[in-house]
Amino acid sequence: MSDSDDDDIPRLSSHTLAALQEFYAEQKQQSDAGRDDKYNIGIIEENWLSQFWYSQETALRLAKEAIAAAGEGGRIACVSAPSVYQKLRALHREDFSVYIFEYDKRFAIYGEEFIFYDYNNPLDLPEKIAAHSFDIVIADPPYLSKECLRKTSETIKYLTQGKILLCTGAVMEEEAAKLLGVKMCKFIPKHTRTLGNEFRCYVNYDSGLDHEI
Ligand SMILES: C[S@@+](CC[C@H](N)C(=O)[O-])C[C@H]1O[C@@H](n2cnc3c(N)ncnc32)[C@H](O)[C@@H]1O
Repeated sequence: MSDSDDDDIPRLSSHTLAALQEFYAEQKQQSDAGRDDKYNIGIIEENWLSQFWYSQETALRLAKEAIAAAGEGGRIACVSAPSVYQKLRALHREDFSVYIFEYDKRFAIYGEEFIFYDYNNPLDLPEKIAAHSFDIVIADPPYLSKECLRKTSETIKYLTQGKILLCTGAVMEEEAAKLLGVKMCKFIPKHTRTLGNEFRCYVNYDSGLDHEI
């Protein structure tokens, strides 16, 4: 290429170039934020369906625990625990897959990953959800009753290959051990609102939730 060809190429001043780069960076930030908004805990507000969302810290802790327990490329089921699903997706990681099993159809905004689920019909699940196809199931049943835990346990046992992370009231300790063989962890989950009941996590495997508080 001759010198004269070079001279024909239009050039931006360094000042214009910097302004342009700043503009593109801002645009990218805005579109990233838009993408994240969809997964913000609280974007779907608590309503009458016995909904108590976890604090950001607890949702993150449970999401990280689920990823570690599921392993590379693992499959995670969030059963009546939508904030954990949202936090998992907000991490923008590609090294796991996740489904949200929920009764509240507002969560259908998550498309293919949303599975309508009513604990009263524990095995009424779509065909694409094969038995024992999840590396870990994290579940937070809507009610503190033996019946609700028993029915939710049926779903959990159907879905899991083995690992279970249950979040429910401390009063359910004995029943949870009987139904699922889970033990109470040291980690204490927190919610955005203060709950009337002491709340705990339970696992049936060697979990980080039991090592530190
Ligand atoms: C106690 S909240 C647990 C939410 C969890 N702390 C979180 O932040 O993700 C119980 C969940 O069960 C869901 N739920 C309500 N009725 C249900 C039903 N009949 N079957 C299954 N899930 C139900 C609620 O929508 C809610 O997400």
